[in-house]
Amino acid sequence: MQRSRIIDVLASSGPAESVTVCGWVRTRRDSRGFAFLEINDGSCLKNLQVVVDEGTEAWKSLEGVNTGAAVRICGILVESPGKGQKWEVHAASLQVFGLADPLSYPLQKKRHSDEFLRTIAHLRPRTNKYGAVFRMRSEAAWAVHDYFRQRGFSYVHTPLLTGSDCEGAGEMFRVTTLPPYMEKGSALYPQGDFFGRPAALTVSGQLEGEAFACALGSIYTFGPTFRAEHSNTPRHAAEFWMIEPEAAFNDIWDNMELAEGLVAHAVRHVLERCHDDMELLDRFVSPGLTDGLRNMLDRGFARVSYREAVELLQKSGHAFEYPACFGADLQTEHERFLAEEYFKSPVTVYDYPKAIKPFYMRLNDDGETVAAMDLLVPRIGELIGGSQREERLDLLLQRMSELGQKMEDYWWYVDLRRFGSVPHSGFGMGFERLVMLLTGVSNIRDVLPFPRTTGNLEF
Ligand code: 4AD
Ligand code: MG
Repeated sequence: MQRSRIIDVLASSGPAESVTVCGWVRTRRDSRGFAFLEINDGSCLKNLQVVVDEGTEAWKSLEGVNTGAAVRICGILVESPGKGQKWEVHAASLQVFGLADPLSYPLQKKRHSDEFLRTIAHLRPRTNKYGAVFRMRSEAAWAVHDYFRQRGFSYVHTPLLTGSDCEGAGEMFRVTTLPPYMEKGSALYPQGDFFGRPAALTVSGQLEGEAFACALGSIYTFGPTFRAEHSNTPRHAAEFWMIEPEAAFNDIWDNMELAEGLVAHAVRHVLERCHDDMELLDRFVSPGLTDGLRNMLDRGFARVSYREAVELLQKSGHAFEYPACFGADLQTEHERFLAEEYFKSPVTVYDYPKAIKPFYMRLNDDGETVAAMDLLVPRIGELIGGSQREERLDLLLQRMSELGQKMEDYWWYVDLRRFGSVPHSGFGMGFERLVMLLTGVSNIRDVLPFPRTTGNLEF
């Protein structure tokens, strides 16, 4: 079907004799002798104003056309005498694709609560706010691919079905083709199952990513990730997207630079490309969003070791729910304090105690900490987690046995240390958390098209 996108129509350099647009009616206003329709086709935040004059072909088709109806309009593009828009269309013909009953179509009001809109996740992208968020989500994905492509990284598609628990946290969704009564506990499990061994949805593509980094040099993954954690927070989802670069010959400092550069690149990208959507979010969702992101670029990123971070949290005089102490993981309240109040910028915390980190992280010379790094950002806390990897065979084996990792699950990973082992590093960035940073949206459920969290699988 030939049509012009509204974003292009609104950017016209002059009037046009004939233009065709398709979209959904946002509002209809009737006056004596004519009607105004505001049409949105999702190509941009702005609507196109359409004037339907009495006596035209289009007028005859107006019956029942209300908010939510899908239409096609052919007409002429003229300069608009009204305020707020440069161009408007005077309709010659109007075709209705689908009406929307005003008594049951839920998006009648101008504003709805986020909670209500979550119950109609199939319709919420038709609102201004969610349209803006999901256009920006798309742009952010392009920014990520751009960034790695410019640096010569290959995009690797790591498997979603896996037999190994990369993070060792045991938060995996089990995958089986056995009928429920034959699952765990039955003699058939796991030998009689599809893979002949326990299978799960991946919590990270890192281990497979390392294999490819140790062949192609620099790689990244960008795909769905699954975690059956029950934490009911605004930052955790059961299904989310993660970006995981892995680079041979990179040490922890190269890794930090890569991570900081990625965040800065994504921020710059949306500031350049998402002007209208960001303005809306700045006005209605997160006041100060744009200035905050600009400041982030201007101020630069801070770095602090875990040890220093704990000390300055303890000395801060701030009343935390959980006091910071060496040896414990940083809580979100600590992470946000560091980024928001102390450094007032994103900050990378590095060299965590080995006891709170997974087996694959490289042991530092102190024997107590590992070359881990978390990048924390204002409003969210942890955006990125990564490390330099343990490339020394003996130390890796020792760590695996301390943590009870089974050799039969990881033999191929260990092989990478047997044959041409190299120093290498990587990290994982939660894509939704990046989108939250860029859009100012405070709940992960509102940046996922159809969020999956504990107890939620409606759509
Ligand atoms: O810190 P995490 O667990 O690190 C890893 O999975 C490593 N294997 C990454 C690597 O080194 N290649 O997760 C990385 C990031 C977190 O910083 C967070 O942004 C995001 O993934 N994340 C989640 N996002 C949404 N919902 C969840 N349940 C998340 N769990 C982690
Ligand atoms: Mg982490």
